[in-house]
Amino acid sequence: MKHLFTPYEIKSLSLKNRVVMPPMCQYSVTAKDGIANDWHYTHYVSRAVGGAGLIIIEMTDVEPDGRITDYDLGLWSDDHIPALARIVDAVHQHGAKIGIQIAHAGRKAEDAELPVAPSAIPFDENSKTPRALTTEEVEQMVEKFRLAVRRAVQAGVDTIEIHGAHGYLIHQFVSPLTNKRSDKYGQDRALFGTEVIKAAKSEMPAHMPLIMRISAREYVEGGYGINESIAFAKEFQEAGVDLFHISAGGEGQIAAAGRPGTHAGYQVPLARAIKEALKVPVIAVGRLDDPALANSVIGNEDADLVAVGRGMLRNPYWALEAATVLHKEIDAPRQYERGFPRD
Ligand SMILES: Cc1cc2nc3c(=O)[nH]c(=O)nc-3n(C[C@H](O)[C@H](O)[C@H](O)COP(=O)(O)O)c2cc1C
Repeated sequence: MKHLFTPYEIKSLSLKNRVVMPPMCQYSVTAKDGIANDWHYTHYVSRAVGGAGLIIIEMTDVEPDGRITDYDLGLWSDDHIPALARIVDAVHQHGAKIGIQIAHAGRKAEDAELPVAPSAIPFDENSKTPRALTTEEVEQMVEKFRLAVRRAVQAGVDTIEIHGAHGYLIHQFVSPLTNKRSDKYGQDRALFGTEVIKAAKSEMPAHMPLIMRISAREYVEGGYGINESIAFAKEFQEAGVDLFHISAGGEGQIAAAGRPGTHAGYQVPLARAIKEALKVPVIAVGRLDDPALANSVIGNEDADLVAVGRGMLRNPYWALEAATVLHKEIDAPRQYERGFPRD
């Protein structure tokens, strides 16, 4: 029977276990011009030492004003590649695989003088009113995603994750609340996302899997629910997504109101629904830091992989500890073996 520490393979991505560190912005005030620094190096490499199978680098943006804050990472120039390549190499040395989340914050770019979005609708009363992108600018934005993916591949990542969740730009195009356009990107709200997926795929080696993170429901009145998200995820799957990372409205709700559930495993039913409807592998995420619960998500075939976010912020060795608690085999670094005794 499959469990959290059963290896997993999809295309060329071969993972030693099913524990994923999901993307988490570090808002690191020492980060300059979107370039990863020693903080990011220590942060990601520690989780590789700690036994995670797959690490996904935080939201990394395709242009300066695509960042939530000026302290976020970017991939809008070749200058960003060496620092990421250094992290990728070190993570590989510790036996983990690594991907990166490629994104644009759209109207939620807090430090942008004038954020851009599908339509000129602010996030809430405290946010700037964004400028609606022209059709031509949306087409150029697809190109910016393509170039960022090219640079990520040059940095040596094993997979790419497109950020289509949490009320950021791709989600803003999908949502009926934020996309009031009348051009082709309004007539088909999934179009921008599918074009980004195809552009990403055009830069990725054929054997490299593409992950997409989506919000499977919005938790707000007038927003979409699971049936709509199954429909647009199907379009994304047809465009080339190999693996979905199932989140929901989440900390960045599409509108200011509405709250996600906060019970353990609150997004697992959504992951299972997408997996069953589309016959596609999925990553489940959201308060899964109890090892027995995370293990049951795999054992019950609710999802193929489990991501643990805040649990890994608290404990970089979450995977090693979970294996110890669950009595599963895992190779702790030799230096730490006595901290994680086997039965
Ligand atoms: C500090 C922090 C930063 C985050 N940044 C991102 C991000 O860059 N991209 C993203 O898709 N989700 C982001 N998230 C959401 C997490 O990836 C994850 O989905 C969420 O924390 C729920 O999982 P958890 O209960 O295991 O923490 C962030 C969460 C935290 C706590």
